[in-house]
Amino acid sequence: MQINSFEEYQETYQKSINQPEEFWAGIASNFLWKKKWDHVLSWNFTTPDIKWFEGAKLNITENCLDRHLAENGDTPAIVWEPNDPEKESITLTYRVLHEQVCRFANVLKKNGVQKGDRVCIYMPMVPELAVAVLACARIGAVHSVVFGGFSAKSIADRINDAACKVVVTADGAFRGNKQIQLKEVIDDALIGCPTIEKVIVLTHTRTPVSMLKGRDCWWEDEIKLVDSNCPAEEMDAEDMLFILYTSGSTGKPKGVVHTCGGYMVYAGYTFSNVFNYQPGEVYFCTADIGWITGHSYIVYGPLSQGATTLMFEGIPTYPNASRFWDIVEKHQVNILYTAPTAIRSLMGFGSAPVQGKDLSSLRVLGSVGEPINEEAWHWFDEEIGKKNCPIVDTWWQTETGGIMISPIAFVTPTKPSFATLPLPGIQPILVDEQGKEIEGNGVNGNLCIRFPWPGMLRTTYGDHERCRLTYFSTYENLYFTGDGCLRDKDGYYRITGRVDDVINVSGHRIGTAEVENAINMHAGVIESAVVGYPHEVKGQGIFAFVIYPGLSKDEELTRKDILQTVTRIIGAIAKPDKILFVSGLPKTRSGKIMRRILRKVAEGDTSNLGDISTLLDPAVVQEIIGKSRQL
Ligand code: WT7
Repeated sequence: MQINSFEEYQETYQKSINQPEEFWAGIASNFLWKKKWDHVLSWNFTTPDIKWFEGAKLNITENCLDRHLAENGDTPAIVWEPNDPEKESITLTYRVLHEQVCRFANVLKKNGVQKGDRVCIYMPMVPELAVAVLACARIGAVHSVVFGGFSAKSIADRINDAACKVVVTADGAFRGNKQIQLKEVIDDALIGCPTIEKVIVLTHTRTPVSMLKGRDCWWEDEIKLVDSNCPAEEMDAEDMLFILYTSGSTGKPKGVVHTCGGYMVYAGYTFSNVFNYQPGEVYFCTADIGWITGHSYIVYGPLSQGATTLMFEGIPTYPNASRFWDIVEKHQVNILYTAPTAIRSLMGFGSAPVQGKDLSSLRVLGSVGEPINEEAWHWFDEEIGKKNCPIVDTWWQTETGGIMISPIAFVTPTKPSFATLPLPGIQPILVDEQGKEIEGNGVNGNLCIRFPWPGMLRTTYGDHERCRLTYFSTYENLYFTGDGCLRDKDGYYRITGRVDDVINVSGHRIGTAEVENAINMHAGVIESAVVGYPHEVKGQGIFAFVIYPGLSKDEELTRKDILQTVTRIIGAIAKPDKILFVSGLPKTRSGKIMRRILRKVAEGDTSNLGDISTLLDPAVVQEIIGKSRQL
């Protein structure tokens, strides 16, 4: 399955385009199926309707666990590094992980979870999180993991959207020197969640929690009441595997749906190739399982390939900025996959935290989540990779299920800040605003994909029309990514960032409309407009223009109240970095906010605002510019 030279890549790519069904059938035959497919692919991008490996039966956990037992049962599957470096790390071999997954799967069953039921998982980065995810997959339940930083309201919205039956959580989480009271947040969320019947609580921080009779039970108690025999449910290739919520330019987050067969093949194939994983190596992805990166490249991709995946509970700067490098040294990490925001933040500490650390085990470095600027790329290359490790800058999305445009380690010649070339099976196309293809090299356009791939989303949960509208209606017969992209003279791709009203803050996708709605819920706020602006560490920062007529002298307090409101409604990750109080917003006569102008102001570049003659009241622009200078 692994590609070993650039010539082989080019040949493989050609084949994958000329004979996609044959190509993917070949890749899929490296996995374990209970029954093979009748038909590799049927698709249309209009409805949309996409089916891969129709008629095939499988269980992804047999691929991630059972099939490794005979020869690699004692191989470490998960190595867990706790938040506190003084605490012991934990290793779960494939045999132990298999047993834990089977046991917890039986706990889910005992608590009424059946095939097709949705289970919400809100947990810290502990091995039990991976166990809970895999246990759902074992019995055919659909997991919906919610990142531990989201608020009670965000959780409630997600639980209700998917009508989840059970929540799996923990008493609390450690993050650096902070503790997060996860169970308390869940208790608040569940006040508005009538579909939840049971809550299973893992003991982790040992903080006191309330336990509701009949609803709440302890993980540790439950696990004792079941045995470790749990046959894997037979799933159809197109049965739902999980839902993962992600933000878009409008409305509430959408539940992106991935299915069993195609997702497994795509996550496994891309993991094996992009990182050139070799048996016995230790692979460390610094993401959280609450995001797609964690789903595909901490859990399913690596485990499907029998890899050793390192899970880290903490943050890069605790107890100090050497933490990643200590982990690399301690666990002899061979492959490190992280985000530009983490690189930039660590770069800020200079080379001192890296000095004296043995990073010689490193072989491949990866980057994901946002464009990586050249400075960060070179720092990563020189300080961490010692100019001896390929950097794979991997472009993909929650919706794509896996890496789409990326170098293949040791195969694709890299170029700083370029995601380089499409992986086999991926057919990118650049289009202009009208949807007309922009051919040739040395061009810019909106990035679309013109042919299906196994890992792509199938729908948005409970609202197929929204899936069609968001991804398949902008340009006829194309999947629209929402990203702008440059194809340089060599045909290399560089992702330039979102072209819609989505901002990317520290690799987290945040919808401007969502933040505006949250700000508008603050008493006293009449209206607001949110845009992104370049931020040195986070990539983009959140800039909010807020109309708040009764503003007293204490602007600072009101700012803090607004931040608190956003934290309550969405979560701390959506807090604006800057708030500017204004008396009006630049609107067209039809009432549309001209964000273009606000973006310029937020960037601090008001020299050329373009045509503002269509504005209802051009005077507001002068006011905004004046006030922004005082911020
Ligand atoms: C958006 C997807 C992919 C998992 C993490 C984020 C941006 C992602 C890159 C990259 C430039 C990137 C895009 C994309 N993005 N990777 N290597 N270079 N931009 O998943 O939350 O679904 O966000 O992240 O804008 O559309 P996500």
